[in-house]
Order: sequence, then structure tokens, then C-alpha cells
Amino acid sequence: MKTISETIIKLENLSKHFGNLKAVDNINLEVKQGETIGLVGPNGAGKTTTIKMISNILNPTSGKIYIRNKKGVLQNLVENPRNLVPRGFLIDIPSFYEMTPAQLLTYFAKLQNFPNDQIKDRMDRLLKLFNLYEWKYENVEDFSKGMKQKLGIIQAIIHDPDFIILDEPQTGLDPKARIEVRRFIRGLQKQGKTIFVASHLLHEISEICDKIALISYGKIIAFDTIEKLEVKLRTNELLFQTLQEITPDKLGPIIEKLTSKLEPYLDKDLDPKISRIPVYYDSKDKEFVIYYDGKRESRADILKILMNEFPEFDLISFSQPRTSQLERIYEQMIGDQGQKEMNERRMK
Ligand SMILES: Nc1ncnc2c1ncn2[C@@H]1O[C@H](COP(=O)(O)OP(=O)(O)OP(=O)(O)O)[C@@H](O)[C@H]1O
Ligand SMILES: [Mg+2]
Repeated sequence: MKTISETIIKLENLSKHFGNLKAVDNINLEVKQGETIGLVGPNGAGKTTTIKMISNILNPTSGKIYIRNKKGVLQNLVENPRNLVPRGFLIDIPSFYEMTPAQLLTYFAKLQNFPNDQIKDRMDRLLKLFNLYEWKYENVEDFSKGMKQKLGIIQAIIHDPDFIILDEPQTGLDPKARIEVRRFIRGLQKQGKTIFVASHLLHEISEICDKIALISYGKIIAFDTIEKLEVKLRTNELLFQTLQEITPDKLGPIIEKLTSKLEPYLDKDLDPKISRIPVYYDSKDKEFVIYYDGKRESRADILKILMNEFPEFDLISFSQPRTSQLERIYEQMIGDQGQKEMNERRMK
């Protein structure tokens, strides 16, 4: 007898290539019943492509997608897409035909075999929840982007699916609506639903997700709880600011001098995903960043060196980072990718 799987979906060495581009590159991921997983990465990282494969809109180039079927057994989606657990999808910005929400939602609910006698109640409740009830009989084509997005979310869950897949649910929403959507997702979690949500906004979804999969250039570079990711990605970082303004022309020699004077204390195996150099100047925040070996004594020595060997500086702060490490690394990841793309474009 096959045992009932706790896993709702399992991606095994999944890839999607478009010509030479590896949009999704050999990813492995498993989502268990009741979990909320965030797929987070910058624009073009491969989130929508992954979600389209999970939705069976796109065929993988290689690898497998297993989804739990109604008997509780994992089943290969491409080989047999029938009798899987009920799923609901929001993919990209939804585009609707010339219809009213009432027509559209009834159509989707029937398509998904939701009991006829329950459609109206459920539709009205969801429309009210998202402040769209007054628009029930209006033409969707006249809706704003945010209204269409909210309707897209309602459409994804109109048939009360167990497994909900949302691609950038916050797109086009104002801050109030984003909060509404987060609250709504928490409600779904309480009902035991399994949720897979893609976003390029880490902070928007990190607090609602049990685990985050960071995706960059089609590869999953980390998959864990926020707490564990923070620990895993922790670097020993020191920040300091000077009273004197650091102009670009002065920067080279300063970085060189800092790197040489602080050499014994710097992080010897710094993860290049975090930074390629152990000392740099963050011109946005107007502060120097040092990746050091993390020892308390080193910290004391570094401060002494800065005071004694750099008379040209008056220090106005010397501290460890304030913001979440994960957020900073993610920003850097986006920055790196943006920079690389810009360089590539320049080369053309
Ligand atoms: N049908 C397609 N044909 C060719 N290339 C494609 C196709 N769809 C996506 N791509 C490319 O694959 C890569 C991944 O795209 P994808 O839409 O999955 O990214 P994303 O992570 O969803 O980004 P965003 O945050 O902008 O939504 C991009 O470089 C994109 O240009
Ligand atoms: Mg996308």
C-alpha cells in the first residue's frame, strides 16, 4: 500500500530553456501540505517560468514535477495531469475578456466543478472581502490594474482549492490592498491551505512564508526558513562613517589603505555572493563596510587601527548592520544581476 504523501509538490531537476537561455536551471524543491513557500528573485530570475511549468502551461525542457493526487500519492504532472489535488492559479497580470466579475467567477467556479448552489455565496463573500462587490456587474475591461489583480486572486481561489499558486499577487496594488492580500493569505494558511507565492519583493512576503526559495538566473541559491537563511548568510560585518565627505576621487587610495592595514582581521573566505571584496564604500548610505573574522577582539583592534592610523578621518559611527542581513544580501543580488545585465547590454 502506498502511504499518503505529506508532500503536495516536488520539483526534481527541473529546467526550462528558451534557446540558449536557461530560464529555469535544474531546480529541486519540495512543498509540504499546509506550508507557505515564497519563490523570491529579481526580474527575469525564472519565477513565472517555474510557475507556468507547475501550472502545466509550459512543458519542462527536462526534469520532473510531481503533484499529489486525490488519493494522496505523488503523480507526474506531465504524464498524467488528471485527478490531482484541486489547485488555483494566479499567473502574471490577469487579462480578462469582456465580462463582469459575476460572469467570470461563475464560469471559473463551474469549470472547476465547484458546487453550483454554493457559487453565489462564495463569490459575494470574496468580492466583499476585496472591496469589489459594488463592481460585480460592471465590465472588467474598465477595471484598474489593481482591481483586475484582486479579481485575479479571487478567480484563483473561487473553487476553494487546497493548493494555491500566486505569481506576484501584490502587482499593481496600493499599500492598503497589499496588506489586505497579506491578511487574506494568512486566513488561507489558517485553513491549512498550501501556498506557493512568487515575488521579487522579499519584504512583502517574507513575513507570511514558512520558507523562502531564493532564485537567481534560474537557479535556487538558497531554500530555508527566514531564520535559518539569516544564519546561513550571516557575515561578520562592520560599518563605519566619517565626518569627512568621501568623494569618488579619494576612494581608491582609502580602500587600498584600509584593506592593507586591516588585512589580518578581514574575512578570509568571504562568500562572493555577499561581496567580492572585504572592504568597500557604500555611497548610498555614505558608509564603509568591512567584512571581518567576527572576533570581538578583532573588532576592538579594527577600531583602534581606524583611530590611530587614519588621522584624516573623524569617526562618527562604528557599528554592526541595522537592517536584516537577508534583505541586504537580496538587494545586493538584485544589484549584481542588474549590473551584469547592463554590462552585457553594453557589450552588444
Ligand atoms: N516564452 C519565452 N521565450 C523566451 N524567453 C523567455 C520566455 N519566457 C520567459 N523568458 C525569459 O526567461 C527568463 C525568466 O523569465 P521569467 O518570466 O520566468 O522571470 P521572472 O522571475 O518571473 O521575472 P519577473 O520578476 O520580471 O516577473 C527571462 O530572461 C525571460 O526573458
Ligand atoms: Mg514573473
